[in-house]
Amino acid sequence: MRKLLMAGNWKMYKAAGETTAYFEKFLPLVTASSHADIVICAPYVNIPAAVAAAAGSRVEIGAQNVFWLQEGAYTGEISGPMLAGVGARWVIIGHSERRQYFHETDEAVLKRTQAALESGLRPIVCLGERLEEREGGGTEEALRAQFHGGLARLSEQQFTRVAIAYEPVWAIGTGKTATPEIATDAHRHLRGLIETRYGKQVAAQTRILYGGSVKADHTKGLMAQTEIDGALVGGASLDPVSFASIVNF
Ligand code: PGA
Repeated sequence: MRKLLMAGNWKMYKAAGETTAYFEKFLPLVTASSHADIVICAPYVNIPAAVAAAAGSRVEIGAQNVFWLQEGAYTGEISGPMLAGVGARWVIIGHSERRQYFHETDEAVLKRTQAALESGLRPIVCLGERLEEREGGGTEEALRAQFHGGLARLSEQQFTRVAIAYEPVWAIGTGKTATPEIATDAHRHLRGLIETRYGKQVAAQTRILYGGSVKADHTKGLMAQTEIDGALVGGASLDPVSFASIVNF
């Protein structure tokens, strides 16, 4: 049985003071939510405030990216040991906004994932098709290419520490959520790829989250699908009441 993972991705929103206020509201709403692992991925500079605010709760803190080397002359980068050192436990890797605006490749996704694992962080690795790929019937091929270009090159031991987020690019920030059927088809396809590469047992254990315009009112329908093991939530995670109602769907 896969435990649900409900992760919020704050993207480039909130300052340190807003971070503390968020947790004051959010934590009481999820104290009884033992059905899911709950993660908030905050901007780098807010991670210490988030870790302090969430201390002693069931909520864990993550980052939204990580560089693949441990230290060195790489101006502006942040490493896995730095993140682990301030109490981050998770990290989003390969988000479509990173792929689109910062030219992130599958190779970079692989290197970041390996670096995260070496630092003891749990990666949430994102993949998903673009609108033109879906419309052209190329969804499965796009997912296959992303999987084989990055994740499939992890060892089995590394892969078992990874959660995957299926995030169709056309659904992110657009208000167009994938239907439970569309998400289920993509998750099945991904699980099939995992099974071919790592075997049935690993495929059955791997958590595949859905992400893309997740809102409280349709979370129940998505989570009713046995293929969907949680959600990666952007916009709707910025408000503590709205994210708590997603967590508690
Ligand atoms: P959204 O973002 O929920 O605002 O669509 C999801 C994501 O980018 O992870």
